[in-house]
Amino acid sequence: MYYPEEIVEEVRIKNDIVDVISGYVKLQKKGNSYFGLCPFHNEKSPSLSVSRDKQMYYCFGCGAGGNVFTFIMEYENFSFVEALKYLAERAGVELPQMEYSREEQEKRDLRNALLEINKLAAKYYYAQLKTEKGRTAWKYLKERGLDDETIVHFGLGYSNKYSDDLSRYLKTMGYSEELQQKAGLVTIDEKHGVHDKFWNRVMFPIMDVNNRVIGFGGRVMGDAKPKYLNSPETMIFDKSRNLYGLHRARTSRKPYFIVCEGYMDVIALHQAGFQNAVASLGTALTSGHASLIKRYVKDVYLTYDSDEAGTRAALRAAPILKASGINTKVIRMEPYKDPDEFIKNLGAEAFEERITNAENSFMFGLRVLAKSYDMNSPEGKTEFFRETARRLGEFEEEIERNNYIEAVAKTYHTGYEELQKLVRKVAVQSGLAAPAVRAKPSVHREKKESGNTTSQKALLTWMLEDEGVFGQIRKYISPEDFTTKLYQDVAEMLYEQYDNGERNPAKIMNHFTDEEEHREVAKLFHTRIKELTTKEEQEKALKEMVIQVKRNSIEEKTAKLAPTDIQGLQLLMDAKRSLQDLEKLHISVK
Ligand code: UTP
Ligand code: MN
Repeated sequence: MYYPEEIVEEVRIKNDIVDVISGYVKLQKKGNSYFGLCPFHNEKSPSLSVSRDKQMYYCFGCGAGGNVFTFIMEYENFSFVEALKYLAERAGVELPQMEYSREEQEKRDLRNALLEINKLAAKYYYAQLKTEKGRTAWKYLKERGLDDETIVHFGLGYSNKYSDDLSRYLKTMGYSEELQQKAGLVTIDEKHGVHDKFWNRVMFPIMDVNNRVIGFGGRVMGDAKPKYLNSPETMIFDKSRNLYGLHRARTSRKPYFIVCEGYMDVIALHQAGFQNAVASLGTALTSGHASLIKRYVKDVYLTYDSDEAGTRAALRAAPILKASGINTKVIRMEPYKDPDEFIKNLGAEAFEERITNAENSFMFGLRVLAKSYDMNSPEGKTEFFRETARRLGEFEEEIERNNYIEAVAKTYHTGYEELQKLVRKVAVQSGLAAPAVRAKPSVHREKKESGNTTSQKALLTWMLEDEGVFGQIRKYISPEDFTTKLYQDVAEMLYEQYDNGERNPAKIMNHFTDEEEHREVAKLFHTRIKELTTKEEQEKALKEMVIQVKRNSIEEKTAKLAPTDIQGLQLLMDAKRSLQDLEKLHISVK
């Protein structure tokens, strides 16, 4: 935390959430709240609600929510400090000068210098494209069908044929060769001295979500190798956490992304009206990419190249996306090589049609699998079904599994029940099944822990929302019982607020200035448990959560207790006794 909490709170209070959000979204008053079209997902009827009392917003459609800082962070893609500065200025609050440690300051300076160098380089390459020297490059881009607007949008450029052209320019702008090297734009070796990394190539600047240039890809204009050269990873360029085209895709207002392989694919798709296309940066898709995507959309259409490598890449990417909770469909570009060629030959409408007919990634996997069996022979087909059954067995949810069994039975002309039987049989054989027998908790420590985190989170959510529930539970649960640090911090503030007779979720949120933490805490303030279940079910669930949180807290404390700590032991005994009381407790909800 850099800025004093009082200042942050002052900025928050002086920026009324209804006023601020009204600057972005048309809001209408209904009862105690204001409603509007949610800017974080695509919708036709308003599900964004903004409360002036609570100074919080929440979208019933996509679950986005938080205080005024969260809104600005999400909408403008700002960090917390950026949002704070923006809102301070809006309300005329003067922020104190920040003091950094020397080390921090040096790091910031270096980062800023690297960003500045990359920006200057992008401008320089762009300018070269327009000169006589850049004519071939300009012609090349034109021949590939790019219009002027697209070239400007993506800031495409050209690196000259001299070995130290950029380096000399950057030097005149005051940046040392050492810094240029750190930015990944220049190599220095004893024998050849200083060399530009990119030389006689068409340049593709790579932008982060905030439109800052963080690196480059450069393409040869002929058949030389390598076809593309990319900036190395630097302090500001992390390939597994950035996607080409994301700076534009994130504001495309479409509920899904098109993920493809190449720079040119992204550019061709954007030009054809698909501004939700992104590509990974010459690397395979990682879980880092998946969680980045998950921030914006829940669905992805994979549009990889038609060759074998593209097929393999799609098969690898789908489970990574699924693990992040993203639904994946696969679009094939046959008979063309990639989206760029497809669009050039068949146009946007045909592409749109492929999107409509995209194949579910599981079914795509089976189609690829079928190619490696002789589907005309009984043995081949049986083997295919065995492997298919094994894959079907991996769906944990019965409904989902059965839906897939149905789909497979239909596509591959076999009986639903026979296939279901085979799935069970294969599962038993491979020791996967026996779902009726629950594993003992101690065996599955990891699972148990995550269940416990869920309980802590849900319990806290409930206590934040319902003062009555808080009152009944506080006798048994104290902030230290929330063993997850983040929840403990929130609990401490909540208890303090209730003690002072206030309840101010928007203020609690201020405390969390780290982006990930801020988002995580924002989620705590919105629950729909109440809409989903009966009162009795809620009371039962609540009691189970209280007991689980308490029990876990006791277990953790016991594990940490030193044998000589008599006082600690006494406290634990008390806690265990109160756990017994809890079994008898009745919690009532409104
Ligand atoms: P492709 O060879 O499919 O490139 O590689 P492309 O975008 O379709 O290029 P064009 O249409 O021939 O110009 C896909 C991606 O893999 C990375 C680049 O990010 C490229 O966009 N790549 C490819 C490299 O990094 N180096 C290479 O030599 C080739
Ligand atoms: Mn291509």
